[in-house]
Amino acid sequence: MSKNQFGSKIGLIAATVGSAVGLGNIWRFPAVTQANGGAAFLLLYIGCVALLGIPVMLAEFSLGRAGQSDAIGAFRRLAPGKAWWLAGALGIFASYIITCFYIVVEGWTLEYLWQSITGDLFAGVGRLEAGGDFAGADAAFLAKMNEYISTPVAPVAFTWLVILLNLGVLVGGVQKGIERLSNVLLPLLFVLLVALCCVTLTLPGAGEGVEWFLRPDFSVITPATVINALGQTFFSLSLGMGILITYSAYYPANTRLTPTATIVALMSLLVALLTGFVIFPSVSSFGLTDHSLAGATLVFQTLPEVFACLPAPQLWSAMFFLLLFVAALTSTVSLLEVTIAFCRERFGLSRFKACLATILPLPLLSMVCSLSFSTLADFKIFGLTIFDFLDTFATNIILPIVSIAVCVFIGWFAPKGLLKRELTNNGTIRSHLSGIVMFIIRYLAPVMIALILIYTFI
Ligand code: PFF
Repeated sequence: MSKNQFGSKIGLIAATVGSAVGLGNIWRFPAVTQANGGAAFLLLYIGCVALLGIPVMLAEFSLGRAGQSDAIGAFRRLAPGKAWWLAGALGIFASYIITCFYIVVEGWTLEYLWQSITGDLFAGVGRLEAGGDFAGADAAFLAKMNEYISTPVAPVAFTWLVILLNLGVLVGGVQKGIERLSNVLLPLLFVLLVALCCVTLTLPGAGEGVEWFLRPDFSVITPATVINALGQTFFSLSLGMGILITYSAYYPANTRLTPTATIVALMSLLVALLTGFVIFPSVSSFGLTDHSLAGATLVFQTLPEVFACLPAPQLWSAMFFLLLFVAALTSTVSLLEVTIAFCRERFGLSRFKACLATILPLPLLSMVCSLSFSTLADFKIFGLTIFDFLDTFATNIILPIVSIAVCVFIGWFAPKGLLKRELTNNGTIRSHLSGIVMFIIRYLAPVMIALILIYTFI
């Protein structure tokens, strides 16, 4: 068996789920759910995953497995002499930019894991009482977070450590690196998440948070809510940046693409749901305020407060940051594999050399992103820090453009019958849904994704 293939069905699913499940599910999901009104948003998100996420994922899978190359090579092979490869190039570019800032947050999670283990995170805060006055702890954790991310040295050092860890996995290759890592870490992620849920769901007053999370109020839905649900779908399923095109080139010919895409989407949803069951009951139980759920605050300020209310705060906190780190690591590995595959295919480099070439610019680029919270905080592009600019530019602009290009290519310009051949494994299995999937890829998905783009601009 070629080493450039996943070795088992479980392994390829674990690797793809590992790529999808990341900071997007555990950090971004609760924040956008909170900002968009709770359960109604959750339902919309589930609808978007089913109606658009899975079909677009199938378009990327078909392109990748039929192309048997990297994100550029797949387009080149299926449309030689045409400019479609530019979409692949944009995807590779996006995955690299995203890695530069994603890896910085991954570094923060490692630092917080370390501080949880040593107990430094809780120094000066002590035990908190549920329903008590959180003002002091609020300020203490916020100060810790700001102090940490706005000092130049430690975050950069942790970012570099994360780069080395990613390199260590990636030189191992598809089976011995990515697949082995995912086979171990994904079950660990689920065990940690379920253990945390068991604690938070049994807190006094947890029911109120669960109800808010699960009882929809449809009056809060606006066009912006729908667009945000779509954005979260693309972010959390790793669509539009060449990851799934690259990974599916490693799928064996007999892999059933439709069940694989469905399982990956369901697992990603499950992690988001379980994360909701950790966050929202805790917030209602401890009487924390709404602002505590926004972005970085949620993970690095609010959750430490929740842990400080529990017996053995260090244990729960270490578990949570380990969980976040694991989720981020399996995602950055997939983001980097996009460029590694390109270097191997395009320049014929060995895996080791391709890994080195991919990783080499990262320490400098990620350092610039990290320093945008400290030394470079005043350096702004379109009024945004370097970190925020790259995040906005890659996720809100490049990602939808690549997704539209993939859909239009598979729907209208790819060799005739390609999608059906891939979904039926060359006619050896049935695929009742290929007609519907094709309809969505041709019409619905490009229009809906174009709406996200237009909304971003206005
Ligand atoms: N899907 C993963 C996450 O939700 O964190 C990884 C990811 C890849 C996120 C690419 C965002 C992104 F643009």
